[in-house]
Amino acid sequence: MLIGAAAAAASVPVGSADTASTLIKGDINRDDSVSVGDVVLLENYLLKKYGLNEQQMTAADMNSDGSVDVFDLVHLKELLLVKSNVLPKGTWIGDCLGAKRYFSFGDGDGVLTYPEGGRSRRFSIEADRDLFCLTMNDTESSISAVVTWLSDSSFVLRWEDGTAEVFRFLCDNIVSSSEFLSGHWVTSQGRTFDMDGLSGKLSDRNGNISRFEYAPDGENIVFHFGSTDNNTEGKIVHTDSMHFKITWSDGTEEVFTRQEIEKKDGITYVNGILIANKTYGLPSDYNPGKILPEAQSAFEEMQAAAKKDGITLTIVSGFRSYSYQGTLYNNYVARDGKADADTYSARPGYSEHQTGLAMDLNNASRYFNGSKEAKWIAANCWKYGFIIRYPEGKQDITGYMYESWHVRYLGKELAKEVYDSGLTLEEFLCIDSKYKS
Ligand code: DAL
Ligand code: ZN
Repeated sequence: MLIGAAAAAASVPVGSADTASTLIKGDINRDDSVSVGDVVLLENYLLKKYGLNEQQMTAADMNSDGSVDVFDLVHLKELLLVKSNVLPKGTWIGDCLGAKRYFSFGDGDGVLTYPEGGRSRRFSIEADRDLFCLTMNDTESSISAVVTWLSDSSFVLRWEDGTAEVFRFLCDNIVSSSEFLSGHWVTSQGRTFDMDGLSGKLSDRNGNISRFEYAPDGENIVFHFGSTDNNTEGKIVHTDSMHFKITWSDGTEEVFTRQEIEKKDGITYVNGILIANKTYGLPSDYNPGKILPEAQSAFEEMQAAAKKDGITLTIVSGFRSYSYQGTLYNNYVARDGKADADTYSARPGYSEHQTGLAMDLNNASRYFNGSKEAKWIAANCWKYGFIIRYPEGKQDITGYMYESWHVRYLGKELAKEVYDSGLTLEEFLCIDSKYKS
């Protein structure tokens, strides 16, 4: 049985759509479907047997060229011939007066995805000519709709409660919530993407905002920007937990960096990582008092491994309080002047040493650079959860000259990702390290 009792799934249609009836091109007799009756009406109009009212004229103007003529009749006949009894395939965006959701159609089944949060529900679907019947797997409720194809890439479903939903084609595949890219992303082209489920907001370099829908599918990704009729496609590669890269169809590449910046008790976390640099300071009363236990035991593990390789590692400076950093910094300023001191010493409240997650090993001076211990640290510290925080040649990015002795604890997984990326922590997170004054 196709429709049966058709216990309406109250959640399936969205909104009410009085105005949507005007959207059904070809429904000249306004009976909610495009059928032979409409062809007859249009033929008779063209033979000057009947007149059409304004709404009927709009529905009859198939090619939207402002006049109703024999071209519209041809268009209408083609639509009926080609599109009767065709179930859609792939993923389509349904729009009911601005409320959007996604239908992915497979062979007799599919997935309905709500854009915000990306919650999805599976359904089965049957068709009998222009009548569709959807049964939701979770509630086992069924609802029917009449389909009217507007073109190869759009159709209208008029649900049994009278609401109409206009669909436009997004992509051939069925989307899966495991591939959603929810979050705030900044890109190498200076754009930001805020994604939620399968919807998003793009801000370009100039602050212009556009809304979009997108569908990820393995190595492919399709975007539909609200302002255009066309889809924008690309190939997507997930580099690590915080990055992916899209190669757009014109060959340009854009690297996306996840960037969730949170401030808790005056401390800044980027993607959950505590940050202390020239941009993001720490409160003066933030004082863990020592190297944090996880970082301390990671150091001891690294120290033991180094020993097996004949390398001795010791901590020469670990946790430093706000006030101790102030004393150090002021001494350097007195000795070298502020501009020079700022290239190698953090101002109080801006030192990573205050976090309890950073340490200087063996010899905190440039004489350590190039030593066998420094080489061992550079090659191996990531295995124990550390990174070289101020690498050579990155002073403009980190804010500090090369320090072969200063390591920062990030945990093993993240330290490996940063090491593999070849980036500084600032580059990895797409953040600055610059004093405001
Ligand atoms: N030497 C590093 C930058 C600090 O003072 O924290
Ligand atoms: Zn240091």
